[in-house]
Amino acid sequence: MQLLKKAIRATTAHPALRGILARGFAKANAYFDAVSNEQLLDIYLKYKNYTCIPPETFVANLDVIGRYASVPGCVVECGVWRGGMSAAMADLLGPGRTYHLFDSFEGLPEATAIDGQRAVDYSANDTNNNCRADEHFATEAMGQSQAKDYALHKGWFADTLKDFRPAEPIAILRLDGDWYSSTAECLNALYPLVAEGGLIVIDDYFPWPGCSRAVHDYLSANGSADRIQTVDTMLAFFEKREVRACQPIDPQRQV
Ligand SMILES: C[S@@+](CC[C@H](N)C(=O)[O-])C[C@H]1O[C@@H](n2cnc3c(N)ncnc32)[C@H](O)[C@@H]1O
Repeated sequence: MQLLKKAIRATTAHPALRGILARGFAKANAYFDAVSNEQLLDIYLKYKNYTCIPPETFVANLDVIGRYASVPGCVVECGVWRGGMSAAMADLLGPGRTYHLFDSFEGLPEATAIDGQRAVDYSANDTNNNCRADEHFATEAMGQSQAKDYALHKGWFADTLKDFRPAEPIAILRLDGDWYSSTAECLNALYPLVAEGGLIVIDDYFPWPGCSRAVHDYLSANGSADRIQTVDTMLAFFEKREVRACQPIDPQRQV
């Protein structure tokens, strides 16, 4: 109950996070009792001003990511906004890895029909400032984390991922770019670099249909047997089962 009170205090202090209250105390209570622990919630509270991810989803991310802590390799997040989740992953996984943060730091590109009407409207109305955040926030968040080695890759994924060749395979790949094109660009460039047994977390699988379409298209185009797992309807993730040659999909696919 103490944990719940702490989470709710944090939520009400952050306008973007009020959804948790709308979904009801009962559900939050059950969730925190079942899977949270003091350490994960404390990490959330440390970075709550550097993330737009609601507390229960944030904690669920860390819980899943922690299960893959034994996979060696670097950590990559695409779509970092103010860097809170990358910083949290660094606190969870420690200073012995390289953390790569990719973002335009200019917000989202325009949504298209494949992302659904709600996304097109969101984009057109510049809702939430189209997720624009200055890069200094991400630098600040990473500076407070345990990361000793991290890089900010500023620019559109299509440009910054083109020549990205990390020194080690990717152990944890977290995709949070919302739209079909962004998700497809990341999967095309980065899935082949993920270690066998590595983790791919898809933040927008449930809220944005373009994102789920890109994931399905990519796995299907590659005849993949990777199993999509979910935590409630908060997040989706899958483990890379086998290393094989991968075909890219078209990020500009029309509906
Ligand atoms: C929802 S926010 C990410 C939230 C963040 N992970 C957190 O912890 O709060 C989505 C981010 O993706 C970035 N983004 C989306 N598509 C992109 C693209 N094609 N190239 C570069 N950045 C992109 C946006 O700039 C924005 O910062």
